[in-house]
Amino acid sequence: MTSSAPDAPEVYPPSAEFAATANAGPELQAEADRDRLAFWDAQARRLDWATPWTEVLDWSDAPVAKWFVGGRLNVAFNCIDRHVLAGNGDRVAIHFEGEPGDSRDITYSELLAEVSRAANTFTDLGLVAGDRVAIYMPMIPEAIVTMLACARLGLTHSVVFAGFSATALRQRIDDAQAKLVVTVDGQWRRGQAAPLKPAVDEALAGETGDPGASSVQNVMIVKRTGADVDITDGRDLWWHDTVAKASAEHQAQPFDAEHPLFILYTSGTTGKPKGIIHTSGGYLTQASYTHHNVFDHKPGRDVYWCTADIGWVTGHSYIVYGPLSNGVTQVVYEGTPNSPDEHRHFQIIEKYGVTIYYTAPTLVRTFMKWGRGIPDAHDLSSIRLLGSVGEPINPEAWRWFRDVIGGGGVPIVDTWWQTETGAIMISPLPGITAAKPGSAMAPLPGISAKIVDDDAHELGAGGSGYLVLDQPWPSMLRGIWGDMDRYRDTYWSRYAEEGWYFAGDGAKYDEDGALWVLGRVDDVMNVSGHRISTSEVESALVGHPAIAEAAVVGAADETTGQGIVAFVILCEGMENTGELLVSELRTQVSTEISPIAKPRQITVVPELPKTRSGKIMRRLLRDVAEGRDLGDTSTLVDPKVFDAIRGH
Ligand code: WT7
Repeated sequence: MTSSAPDAPEVYPPSAEFAATANAGPELQAEADRDRLAFWDAQARRLDWATPWTEVLDWSDAPVAKWFVGGRLNVAFNCIDRHVLAGNGDRVAIHFEGEPGDSRDITYSELLAEVSRAANTFTDLGLVAGDRVAIYMPMIPEAIVTMLACARLGLTHSVVFAGFSATALRQRIDDAQAKLVVTVDGQWRRGQAAPLKPAVDEALAGETGDPGASSVQNVMIVKRTGADVDITDGRDLWWHDTVAKASAEHQAQPFDAEHPLFILYTSGTTGKPKGIIHTSGGYLTQASYTHHNVFDHKPGRDVYWCTADIGWVTGHSYIVYGPLSNGVTQVVYEGTPNSPDEHRHFQIIEKYGVTIYYTAPTLVRTFMKWGRGIPDAHDLSSIRLLGSVGEPINPEAWRWFRDVIGGGGVPIVDTWWQTETGAIMISPLPGITAAKPGSAMAPLPGISAKIVDDDAHELGAGGSGYLVLDQPWPSMLRGIWGDMDRYRDTYWSRYAEEGWYFAGDGAKYDEDGALWVLGRVDDVMNVSGHRISTSEVESALVGHPAIAEAAVVGAADETTGQGIVAFVILCEGMENTGELLVSELRTQVSTEISPIAKPRQITVVPELPKTRSGKIMRRLLRDVAEGRDLGDTSTLVDPKVFDAIRGH
């Protein structure tokens, strides 16, 4: 647990001006307190339903919820068609900014045409509702179009972050038994065209450890960089030969509120990623409700920018589904913040007049490192709200964010949630909450959370414990794809008697009742807001022929929150080749998982600290990695092991 104790008592109430026009006023909490389910019933009416529901929540099959039972809707219709039907077809949905400098505005009418073409093409390929589609694409409009075309047809998408390796892609394709992969020839990354299609070929050829045939029938390729690609006849299709030529007319059919909208893989405490399942009606209700109230979004007036990637849940809920359901005008940027130089984000804010900017603490700290001269060279006065997500934001970064990017007077919403929660759960409401730097403040209206100890006792001010969600919520996960036992075990067994969802985070309330999230309490690391499990990295490392055993910990890192630190033991008779070995191991992790999982530091050690029951004591390794004095080592088999580890 990283502790960011509430040191400064300073609070930042919203300005009277902001409060006066805020979407969320005090009545929201009052309504939710009066009757939680009636509150969600009202929120679901933000959407257009083909058939109304008969019951708000059916929790009889807990922990698998059914929300808005019997209701039917089309998610894509709610994100596109209804805005066009309401006369807003000419509104820009997406200001696309490509990394090499190309840009493109897409209106809601154009988005409707493009999604309809893709939907017609996918139908022609024989895909039917319930089939899975893997999306392995960078941040280009076609990625969003593909997600929406899937939603329109009831196809369940599984977006795989384009930074993941062929091995990771294959694992996810196999787990979901995807029939179609949508990808690109290559992607722009830091000024370079990096190939992507070859990773799909490698994954499907089974050169990646699983020689069996894959479930994939077709690969659709969007031309992005113009790189040469190998085409497998009968399997591979170009987007510009198919989608671009298809009919732009498509009638959306409604699906059940519980129809699976997407699967998104995330790291757990064991090596195998979990396919988190989200469904339609409840998910869209909460994504839409939170985007409206937490970001105070005003359609037709705001220019919104969430800097996440669609490969993560933030991109699903706060680039695609929440914002588009609310008729947003948003910036979608393809590249990195320092391409071609560190001014890029601020130029984009200036160019489009961005009013709402939602990003991650790691990027704020990177901006701090680059220096305020860079943002100060730009007119950022359009910004009226800032958001943070992914990890606790340290108070220093919070204040810098508000002062330098927000011009000193705008609210910051520090939003706590998870892939599993589907949408924001804990956050200030910008027109009401007097925010404290570093605190996520309070559960949103309609959401209930507790901080408890091992024995399920609720903790008062100052006591740190486990964050649990004690009431079901509309956008909650409905399970783990193909492994409902793991679903029950991971989230619901810890407080089985109470029926609470165990979030895996530590938290505490301060004396004013503000909630502070303290970080993961399991073996999950948080590197630049990305969730990576220690065991996933360990198993990649022991995949190298020289490595017998590995222990991985997340150590505090000034910029990335946590950095990955690995301790490895060589196999008998293997030679420590120093730098060469370390670089081989880093490559190994990169190809097994992703460059984002590469250890910052790898140390070859003669032994690992273990308890008598054989469990690696990660806490002690973290102490070593962070240069702290060792705590209690009495449960170690051989406390002297540390002298050897330190000696390296
Ligand atoms: C984990 C979830 C939610 C989208 C991005 C990450 C940490 C997330 C905050 C925050 C403190 C946070 C938690 C959580 N986290 N937001 N505002 N304050 N911690 O989604 O990959 O599913 O990771 O990120 O540890 O459990 P994810």
